[in-house]
This record gives sequence, structure tokens and C-alpha cells, in this order.
Amino acid sequence: MRQYSVSELLTEDITFPEVEIKGWVRTFRANRFIALNDGSTLNNIQCVVDFENFDEALLKRITTGAAIHVTGELVESQGKGQKVEIKVKTLEVLGDSDPEEYPIQPKKHSFEFLRENAHLRTRTNTFSAVMRLRSALSYAIHKYFNEHGFYYMHTPIITGSDAEGAGEMFKVTSLDINNLPKNGNNKVDYSKDFFGKETNLTVSGQLEAETYAMSLGKVYTFGPTFRAENSNTSRHLAEFWMIEPEVAFMDLAGNMDLAEDFLKFVIKYVLENNSDDLEFLDKRQQDEDKKKPQADRSDMTLIEKLKFVTDNHFKRVSYTEAIDILRNSKPNKKKKFKYIIKDWGCDLQSEHERFLVEKHFKCPVILFDYPANIKAFYMRLNDDGKTVRAMDILFPGIGEIVGGAQREERLEVLKQKMAALNIPEEELWWYLDLRKYGTAVHSGFGLGFERLVMFVTSMCNIRDVIPFPRTPQNAEF
Ligand code: 4AD
Ligand code: MG
Repeated sequence: MRQYSVSELLTEDITFPEVEIKGWVRTFRANRFIALNDGSTLNNIQCVVDFENFDEALLKRITTGAAIHVTGELVESQGKGQKVEIKVKTLEVLGDSDPEEYPIQPKKHSFEFLRENAHLRTRTNTFSAVMRLRSALSYAIHKYFNEHGFYYMHTPIITGSDAEGAGEMFKVTSLDINNLPKNGNNKVDYSKDFFGKETNLTVSGQLEAETYAMSLGKVYTFGPTFRAENSNTSRHLAEFWMIEPEVAFMDLAGNMDLAEDFLKFVIKYVLENNSDDLEFLDKRQQDEDKKKPQADRSDMTLIEKLKFVTDNHFKRVSYTEAIDILRNSKPNKKKKFKYIIKDWGCDLQSEHERFLVEKHFKCPVILFDYPANIKAFYMRLNDDGKTVRAMDILFPGIGEIVGGAQREERLEVLKQKMAALNIPEEELWWYLDLRKYGTAVHSGFGLGFERLVMFVTSMCNIRDVIPFPRTPQNAEF
């Protein structure tokens, strides 16, 4: 007898009928039908119990949430919607679950309630599907880079630099309370507490990735990043995962090609390999849509939307063109934008990004050549002296999903930009070295992993696509 997963039992041709399985009870109907789930697939396997053959006390312990061990015969199912079922021979309860207390009852729970039970929410169909897709997307990301000659590098979590220059960092404080460094007034100086140095949690691995690109050629990072921005939106987390490729001898046009090819690959991967979970989430989105007024419903089903991305070119538009479009547009006949764009040079808000993607171009958009003063110090200055070779990729329903740039490779120009922004050269001496010794054109981008998972699952809140969300209100677990 062999132990199987539910996924194997439901999809493989199993010739030996005696099987063994372990999982968690979803429901137990009529003292006869156990719906058993082990996380390997959305579907449950039905285990049919001949109750006369089992002790009543044992059957009472088969409750929603209990972990059980079943052996039996795999037979063709008489029931609807399933090919096979298990005729139970032996039944063992591995872990009881008090039905009065178990939070995940077999009914619809609100996402707010499930967020409070993040440790148990993957026992629901929606969250198990989302997290299986999250895992598949991670795999596809590594697969893409592996197949395209990239090296995976690990950048530090604790760092002395502020890669984005936005000052949105969490400071690192050690716990040796008796030996904290003091400032001149004899007050404890918490800021310099990494063995006397000032450090923070990384906001991006880019600067370190650049050092490896300038030796290994093509590299990428995929790790946690931290932003201390106090934004309570459905698209921001204080801790999120970012994928950051960095490539030597590649300019902005090459960067756009890479990002588009990469995004299409990972989305195609889940379309081909995760159809059960995608179809489930697709149906879920359509059911949710039916509850909304016609005007707020999505134009496409989830799967149509994913195919739309894989099958169409991303529209490439300069910031200047985008501003012209936005100045002459309204989000709809009656409404104006909340934030009216008056002058060239202002930053775009998410309402503008979403208008360009969802209403104007109706496809993913790559915006490039932004004003230098709204972008980070490391971006390559264009010959016009006022724009930089930046690019943001905007997706329907999400807005910005990727931010990237060609990097400033000229030592003198980089030094001038740093001086203008009061970034001390001593802090980034190693970064400047890359421009001193064998500098070259190079580019890269950062993909916000959770924003990709949101897009692929059609989940509306970023808190629902990461196992344990860190937001200004939440750092439990
Ligand atoms: O645009 P950002 O800030 O770019 C960088 O960090 C660059 N250093 C990347 C690079 O060129 N290597 O962030 C990149 C992406 C954004 O487009 C967004 O998808 C995501 O990271 N992101 C966030 N996701 C969730 N919560 C937040 N607070 C995020 N901030 C950025
Ligand atoms: Mg950005």
C-alpha cells in the first residue's frame, strides 16, 4: 500500500487499488462522506465510510479541521463531479479539531475575518489556490532566469545604504540594551546601533545587484524588501518581495524587452500549469462581479485578462506623451481626476496610471523617460538634461507593477547628481568604484512580487496574497 496525495489520486491512473492518505477533514456528511483535503489540489477526495463498521466514538471525532489517516480501496465514484473515491477500510484521527471552536467553518468567511486568522486561512479554497499560485510563480521566475543565463544572487537585508534615496527605511536596533552607543548628550543613540553603525533594512537590492552585474554579467535577486512608508492602501506593504534583474551592457530598450518577455513567460507558465486554481479564482471573480453594478464589473474574466497580457505587445509611451494624454482626458464623462495634472514634471498618481492602462490604451503600458527630479539618483540622465532613462510598467487593475531604469554609468554625472541630493560620496564609495573601474551601460528593474500575485489571482487586496502581511496595523504572527 502506498501513501498518495489527493492530487495524485484524482489525476493519475492508479492501478493498485489499496491506497493510504492523510489530510484535513473539510466536511463529514451523513456520517458517511468525508471530504478530505491535503493542500495538494483545490479538490477534495471523497472517503466513503460504512458507519456500521466503525466505532461511534471514533466517527464523532471526524470533524471539520481534524487531521486524519485513511486507508482503503480506490473505486470509481457514483457521486457527481468526481471520478474516484475511497471506500474506507481503516480510519485514524491524528489530530482532533473542536468543532465548536474551529474558526474555519464550512461556509463563506469574509477576507477581513480570514486575515485575522492568517495562520489558518490557507485551509480555505481561495487562499490555498492563491498560495499555490504564489509558489508556482516563484518557481517560474527562477526558471526564466535560469534558462536565460542569469545568476541568482543574495543581497543583504541589513545595509547602510538607502537605494531609493527616499528615506523610507526601518532602522536596525540591536538588543544589547546595556551597551547601546550614546550620543554627545549622553543620550542613547538608537540610530547607530548596528555595532556602532547606522543601518537599516533594505529597501531594494539593486545597488548590490549592480556590483555583480558588473562582473557576472546577468544577475537577479528575489528577496524581501522593506518600506517604512505609512501608506494604508490595498497595494502597499511594509515588507514585500521583489525580483530585481540587473544586466551589464543592456540599455533601456533592452530592459523593456527583458521585462516584457519575462512577465509574459511567468504568466504563461501558470496558465499552462495551474489551470485548476486559475479556473477556480476566475469563477470566484465572476461571482463577485455579479454582485457589483454593471459599470464596476471587469471587462474580462481572469483567464482572458492573463491571455491578453501574454498575447499583446506592451504599449511603450514616454512620460511627456502620457502627460499630454492625461491633460486632455477625464476618467469618465462626469468626473475629473482627483489630482489634476497641470505642469510637466509632476508625478503620476495611481488614478492616472490606471486610466492610461484601463481606459486609454487598454493594454499593459511601459512609461519611460521620466523627469529626473521625480526619480532616484542612479538613473541615466538623457541628453536633454531633464529626463532620465526610467521605466515603469503599468498593469490593468494594479497600476505600477515594475519600476526600473538604465543606470547612470558616468562617474562625473553620478557624482554631480549625488551632490545635488546631498548623498555623501563616502556612503557609496563602492558604488562609485563601479564607474571608476570598467564602467559600462547597464540596466535593471524591480518587480513587486505581491503585485504580480494580485494580478494573476485577481485578489483586490495585497494583504491577501502574502502569507503574513506586514502593514502599519499588522505585524502579528
Ligand atoms: O519602483 P520601486 O521603488 O523600484 C526600486 O526599488 C528599484 N530599485 C528597482 C530596480 O530597478 N531594481 O519598486 C519596484 C516595484 C514597484 O514597481 C512595485 O511593484 C513594488 O516594487 N513595490 C511595492 N510593493 C508592495 N508594497 C510596497 N510598499 C511597494 N513599493 C514598491
Ligand atoms: Mg516605483
